[in-house]
Amino acid sequence: MNTDTTLEILSIDSAHTEKIGEHIGRHLRGGEVIELQSDVGGGKTTFMRGLVRGAGSKDLVASPTFTISKEYAAPAFTIHHLDLYRLGENPGIVRQELAEFLESSADVVAIEWANSLTDVLPKRRLTIQFAHRPNDQRIIYLTVPKQLRYLLEEIQT
Ligand SMILES: Nc1ncnc2c1ncn2[C@@H]1O[C@H](COP(=O)(O)OP(=O)(O)O)[C@@H](O)[C@H]1O
Ligand SMILES: [Mg+2]
Repeated sequence: MNTDTTLEILSIDSAHTEKIGEHIGRHLRGGEVIELQSDVGGGKTTFMRGLVRGAGSKDLVASPTFTISKEYAAPAFTIHHLDLYRLGENPGIVRQELAEFLESSADVVAIEWANSLTDVLPKRRLTIQFAHRPNDQRIIYLTVPKQLRYLLEEIQT
């Protein structure tokens, strides 16, 4: 039985997307995996800026496109922010590394451009899709399995 819930939120500007990220960040407990999907400029990194702040970290979020991975220190856990864009369709050794990392991690892992590696992500993950709309708007789809519904508690839609 599929018990995933999808919530749809219309974001009116980048500050709004950050606010949604901040809400999720406040509800993180550690151990969550988040997959972020969109075209370039969809708002994945903008969302992460809010999430990191919401989790209580003062670290600055920048797009990790050229580093693959960045870490932000929150009081209760570390947030690993991966951007796998540059791996393309040939993730090679990273597939095994990521699988092992996810298995042992009590931290939060957020992944942009997971594409060819989605099969190693746990089923129990928050998936967020950003769809472009005119005038700086985005539709944000948040899909969670039952075990992660606490992330969406009292979110403003
Ligand atoms: N509603 C919105 N939500 C998120 N970003 C927006 C929105 N409206 C405009 N933007 C702009 O779009 C860009 C999103 O970039 P970024 O977050 O880096 O996207 P991605 O990581 O998906 O490539 C930023 O320049 C941001 O200011
Ligand atoms: Mg990005």
